[in-house]
Amino acid sequence: MLPWKTVIEIRRDSKTPLFIQITKAIIREISYGRLKAGQALPGSRSLSELIGVNRKTSIIAYEELMAQGWIEILPSKGTFVAKDLPVVTYHALNGESKHAAYPEKTCFPVKPWVAATTVYQRHASMIALDDGSPDTRLAPLDIIWRNCRSLTRGPFKNKLLAYGDLQGDPRFREVLAEYLSNTRGLACQKEHVMITRGSIMALHLVLNQIVNPGDVVLVGETNYPAANSIILNCGGSLQTIPVDENGISTHHVEEVCKKIKVTAIYITPHHHFPTTVTLSAERRLHLLELSQKHQFAILEDDYDYDFHYASGPILPLASFDRQGSVIYMGSFSKLLAPGIRIGYLVAPQNLIQALNQARRHLDRQGDFVLERALSQLILDGDLQRHLKKSLKAYRIRRNLFCQTLKKRCLEFVNFNPPEGGMAIWTKFNSSLDLKNLSENLASKGVYLDVDREILRQHHATRLGFASLNETEIVTAVEILGDCLERASLETH
Ligand SMILES: Cc1ncc(COP(=O)(O)O)c(C=O)c1O
Repeated sequence: MLPWKTVIEIRRDSKTPLFIQITKAIIREISYGRLKAGQALPGSRSLSELIGVNRKTSIIAYEELMAQGWIEILPSKGTFVAKDLPVVTYHALNGESKHAAYPEKTCFPVKPWVAATTVYQRHASMIALDDGSPDTRLAPLDIIWRNCRSLTRGPFKNKLLAYGDLQGDPRFREVLAEYLSNTRGLACQKEHVMITRGSIMALHLVLNQIVNPGDVVLVGETNYPAANSIILNCGGSLQTIPVDENGISTHHVEEVCKKIKVTAIYITPHHHFPTTVTLSAERRLHLLELSQKHQFAILEDDYDYDFHYASGPILPLASFDRQGSVIYMGSFSKLLAPGIRIGYLVAPQNLIQALNQARRHLDRQGDFVLERALSQLILDGDLQRHLKKSLKAYRIRRNLFCQTLKKRCLEFVNFNPPEGGMAIWTKFNSSLDLKNLSENLASKGVYLDVDREILRQHHATRLGFASLNETEIVTAVEILGDCLERASLETH
């Protein structure tokens, strides 16, 4: 509700009658767009109480406004701003006539975000070819909401909504530490775990804490664009390292370290973004050794750890780290759904304490109800059952996507079936002109929800298979084939 006492400022010392003061104030709010067509107004009794006038005065003011066509009073429904108001114009101070609207720009300069990445919003009715998202239809949402409901009925219901631990719900951290120890061999306790809103927040906090302007941060050549963007916005200097079928080349890392001081390296070992390759066990150990020798941080973004189809995953670098080099980051975005904004980082306590302070001034704390509901999901074995089920479904989808892509698009694309993850790194024939690809796909009901800059620069993209069911996969690849055929004809 609007703060009516401030909006309608009654001046008893003014010569203007009170009902006209009220009328003018309401007309002003409508003209400035702060009161919208059809918006409910307080009844005359409430209005008189809210602004401290006699009820008769507000009745007369409303009658005047109704006579002028600004408001309508609907019997047994209430008082509303009139629905069919003409587009209102007002005169700004400089005399220019403008439409009443919220200002489009600030009157002060805004620092641009360096290397911003674009977020695309797909149309709900389209099939989305994304760059590797889970199928939220498979997520055990009913169980999560049931867990939330039982918490809000239980003895903790008020405590969970009070100001709490900056680092995340202690009970969840305890359960998660044990889960990470069982599934990834991380020798961590709840003190080493910090809960964040997705791993992007973990990355943001860590990079801002350890990177100073001019510091060198190593990344794979072609990298997760969001990570590059945060590094650049911290003032870091990006140095790229080649990536081959065994992941980032640690030999090249070694060569760089001989020449310059390196502050950190950002890696996606399971699986490299965007090419989907796995960092080999040998290179993991080599990188750990280099980080200890040259004292740089390893930011291990293990977003895809759970989804490995051929064999089991390789243990994270963090599970071998005894010197405090590795900051391990993970997320429930792939495991459950990207809208469940829960991620985490695991690191030595001195870093966690500094990050708690940074978080204190950014977000205060996470969502304890959801965190506690996820604890229950893990303790009841529901998360593990979901993982088993989705892994099976995604393996089938990966195979089907690869088969269909091979059958329908082989003359236009080149790819290796990925060992894990949710996407296929697909390289397009260099002769194809792809500038109209997204528009052509969209006109046939397929939304290409991928990083356009990677597509433009590398003539390649990740094509996600996990979020589509089998019928959708066949339809999407068929349409992709049609559009690539069209691109090929346009090229020749
Ligand atoms: C490389 C990489 N890291 C992390 C994530 C997960 O981010 P978040 O947990 O913030 O949703 C993604 C999501 O697509 C990703 O591609």
